[in-house]
Amino acid sequence: MRILIHYGYFAPKNTSENDQEEAYVLTEPSRLLLKDNPLSMTPFLLAMVDTMLTTPCNYLTTWFQNEDLTPFGSAHGKTIWHYGGHELKFANFFSEAMASDARLVMNVVVDKCKGVFEGLESFVDVGGGTGTVAKAIADTFPNIKCTVFDLPHVFADFQGSKNLKYVRVHFEAIPPADAVFMKWILHDWNEEECVKLLKQCKEAITINDKKGKVIIIDLMMENRKENEKSTKTQLFFEMVMMVLVKRKERTEKEWAKLFLDAGFNDYMITPILGLRALIEVYP
Ligand SMILES: C[S@@+](CC[C@H](N)C(=O)[O-])C[C@H]1O[C@@H](n2cnc3c(N)ncnc32)[C@H](O)[C@@H]1O
Repeated sequence: MRILIHYGYFAPKNTSENDQEEAYVLTEPSRLLLKDNPLSMTPFLLAMVDTMLTTPCNYLTTWFQNEDLTPFGSAHGKTIWHYGGHELKFANFFSEAMASDARLVMNVVVDKCKGVFEGLESFVDVGGGTGTVAKAIADTFPNIKCTVFDLPHVFADFQGSKNLKYVRVHFEAIPPADAVFMKWILHDWNEEECVKLLKQCKEAITINDKKGKVIIIDLMMENRKENEKSTKTQLFFEMVMMVLVKRKERTEKEWAKLFLDAGFNDYMITPILGLRALIEVYP
């Protein structure tokens, strides 16, 4: 209990006036781990500590000394995206983990950033996983036609709805839309790959002289040395990205360079949740 209190999962609470009895109560972070909380982050936490994701950490030395693309590849013989197509258990818990994060983030986004989506008629979520983001947009804005793109194994037999469609394809086939959305996509890829993907997005939002936008939700590295907790989270995420996809997180300067290199003219950042930011990028 002492360690759980130290890390903020429980807080002590006195139950009687003479301090004879001590009780413990849940805190804000630990409430997010309750299974019956609609915004539960338990699937994300369980994925992060599953051996399929932690074993690659033991392969850092091997990876440094050979030509493997990633420590994940050294451990499992495939990229993280191909592995899901072969290991159903991995595909399922990874999708559930992403969906739990998307539920929490979209809860904030549709509440605090409604204006970002107002006026849109079409919305494409690239690498949208099992569609949690697109469902939230489709439900909140019934006039927006939403499309989710992802690899075939991610939603083999999902049914869409009146304004929600699932398409099983690779990144190459982004259709025209008022807004192309990417959450936790660009931080998985290197500069060259991101510029290529962003140029495809730009084409999709500017076809027929339209002027749409790209909406990104991703981590924004900050230089906040005074905030020990957020510094630790940033550094932890960088390690996870290195192990899984050989990537590191970007600062605002690095994001801006990416947008410029892909031919965009302007961008606007709205901080949304912890270190996460919503970035609107304009052609
Ligand atoms: C980190 S997950 C993010 C999922 C979702 N956007 C979210 O944040 O909840 C990255 C997603 O990109 C998808 N992906 C990876 N490579 C892809 C490709 N070549 N074409 C389409 N989707 C791809 C993965 O299947 C996965 O769902």
